[in-house]
Amino acid sequence: MAALSPSPAAEPTTLRQAAGDRFLVGAAVRPDQLARPESAKLIAEQFNCLTAENVFKPQSIQPRKGEFNFADADKIADFAAKHNMALIGHTLCWHNQTGRWMFEDAQGKPLPREEGLANLKAHIFAVAGHFKGKVKGWDVVNEAIDDGGPYLRDTPARKSIGDDYIIQAFKFAHEADPNAELYYNDYNIERDYKNAKTVRLLNELKAAGVRIDGVGVQAHWGIAWPDNAELERGLKALAATGLKLHFTELDVDVLPRKGESANITDVQKSAGSTAENPYVKGLPDEMQKKLADRYAELFRLIMKHGSQVERITFWGVDDGSSWLNGFPIRGRTNYPLLFDRQFKPKPAAAAVMKVLREEGK
Ligand code: G3I
Repeated sequence: MAALSPSPAAEPTTLRQAAGDRFLVGAAVRPDQLARPESAKLIAEQFNCLTAENVFKPQSIQPRKGEFNFADADKIADFAAKHNMALIGHTLCWHNQTGRWMFEDAQGKPLPREEGLANLKAHIFAVAGHFKGKVKGWDVVNEAIDDGGPYLRDTPARKSIGDDYIIQAFKFAHEADPNAELYYNDYNIERDYKNAKTVRLLNELKAAGVRIDGVGVQAHWGIAWPDNAELERGLKALAATGLKLHFTELDVDVLPRKGESANITDVQKSAGSTAENPYVKGLPDEMQKKLADRYAELFRLIMKHGSQVERITFWGVDDGSSWLNGFPIRGRTNYPLLFDRQFKPKPAAAAVMKVLREEGK
């Protein structure tokens, strides 16, 4: 066979190649996606970092006191190890997807501080201990900043233990796995309404002397929001703490919606009208282009922070698996990721690849 013209070997063809050693490029996954050959292949080819979408959460791992279930979580850890991917632990302490027993008594009253602390410590020691040496870093505490109030969200952990539950969680995580990186993770912390509260928390954690390596900006964004100037301002303030920046749950909602938060309790009724669910038959070309442009713009904006950016993780792999098909309105057809329902790259994937190549030169 005649020699083909030399392929441009220097040109990367996957996200993980294109990101190179600048930052990790990750995806949130579920065990069923790793078991399906089509999605498993795509995940292994494109990403070099995994987060479990649900199965590392307290409700999955310790649904009842002292009853541990690591089987699903181990599937994700094993896949990551087999494919030479970093593994992020999400999450050790959260007000959602956590058994009520951890911080409340049978009547729903907060447990006495010592009992809540003991439950938190036992959970963190068991889980971070189990994954010692396998997890690069932990989202130690998730979503502790209040959306509306002046500072901390009034979670079951806070009601039982007190404001220092966050500091305690970071201490326990460090004791349980001294080599793991530790992160604080939250949504909308780059937005004006939450940014100063978050910077305050990060500085308090640093002042308390606990190990904290990075801040997780969830990055559940939309096609027309947040405003880029606000985004840049917020990221700059987070970067000024000196912590590494992790973009931990990136997706771009293309559907109409009222609120802009990722608070899962805000989920509404099922979609009724075409106005609520406009692209059931496919995303029009014009919207594909808008999504591609938005992704390119967001990557350029993120990459302005250079080596302070340690990771960009997508919250899902393909559009069909995204939580945004069910949030904030159930039963919609959304298109927030780089790969379509047939696992094919969308124009947005090409746009991101182009930015990664250009910014790498
Ligand atoms: O496991 C049950 C299953 O037994 C039951 O049949 C089914 C019926 O609805 O529900 C299943 O639980 C669902 C769970 O995901 C596992 O699939 C819950 O209803 C559903 O609410 C839950 O949603 C997850 C959500 O966190 C929960 O808060 C999403 O998949 C997951 O993408 C989402 O991820 C969060 C991050 O952890 C933190 N940041 C925001 C992000 C999006 O909400």
